Amino acid sequence: MMKRLIDKLEKYHQLTKDEYISLIENRNPEISRYLFEKSRNIRELHYGKKVFIRGLIEFTNYCKNDCYYCGIRRSNKNTSRYRLTKEQILDCCKEGYRLGFRTFVLQGGEDSHYNDQVIIDIIKGIKSLYPDCAVTLSIGERSYESYKAYYDAGADRYLLRHETADPIHYKRLHPPSLSLESRKQCLNYLKEIGYQVGSGFMVGSPGQTSEILAEDLLYLQEFRPHMVGIGPFIPHHDTPFFAEPGGTAELTLYIVGLVRLMLPSVLLPATTAIGTIDPVGREKAILAGANVLMPNLSPREVRDKYMLYDNKISTGDEAAECTHSIIESMKLIGYQVVIDRGDFKGDENIIQEVSNV
Ligand code: 5AD
Repeated sequence: MMKRLIDKLEKYHQLTKDEYISLIENRNPEISRYLFEKSRNIRELHYGKKVFIRGLIEFTNYCKNDCYYCGIRRSNKNTSRYRLTKEQILDCCKEGYRLGFRTFVLQGGEDSHYNDQVIIDIIKGIKSLYPDCAVTLSIGERSYESYKAYYDAGADRYLLRHETADPIHYKRLHPPSLSLESRKQCLNYLKEIGYQVGSGFMVGSPGQTSEILAEDLLYLQEFRPHMVGIGPFIPHHDTPFFAEPGGTAELTLYIVGLVRLMLPSVLLPATTAIGTIDPVGREKAILAGANVLMPNLSPREVRDKYMLYDNKISTGDEAAECTHSIIESMKLIGYQVVIDRGDFKGDENIIQEVSNV
């Protein structure tokens, strides 16, 4: 029965809410294996054994928001705050380019110090030095005009997780100043402007039910983002959710597999969060259909300050200096890290099966 639902998702790329709930609630190791075999095959049909890498530059941990789950929320007085200058950011790109990165992701808290002019100046700086690279922004909710101005300045992609598609659950995770409605509005603007857009959510956030997860999947099914970031919720000791249980790698991987069947050519990262709760979580995510890794390119001195959750891996494999070990760990599971912008290609771009041997 569950296998039939997975076959249906593979064939039609869509299911009803009840079908998603059923797939989530009735999952077991055998169903997971069945799902991952399919999600892996689809991923290979579109991207072969390639793994795209993005250099993540966490350029500010100041944030005006106060999300209950996040370690860099405004109310956390125990975080030591930092901002990177344009020059520091360009230094990260220089090192990143040398290491083979062709996408730079500028991620930060919602920090008004970086107004439109400052952001545009940084985008133009990167684009003029590295015209062959993609710039991805991940700086939260801004106006249509700002998004448009960054796009016109050369930004290619934008990551803005919807966090949860259930309005009541959204309220449970965020202070009253934030709403699902404005989140979705921003995502619609970004798509309309022409960005490759990334959305996504945490698995196992406090109060999340399978019904809520099904709503998240339905939202993705309808919005059809180019990228989807999915990671487990991990409690941070200085947040209101300090005592809440975290999400599991098992359910996170299962959701990753479902998303691959729903959006066959989506860019799907094996997230840092899944690598944090399971030492081989990212390898498992790749084998469940993920095709992107986002190692940290931030300067060493600030890495332990961008703590969204406890124990976030910040030295070792995820550090960009260690691209070598990332390359090796991917090789060990049969995949190949490539030097490529790794753009979204759409469903028509399916890699041809070897036909003329
Ligand atoms: N656990 C897991 N992920 C988190 N994020 C923020 N805080 C946490 C946490 N405690 C995620 C959010 C955000 C992204 C940058 O990091 O989904 O969009």
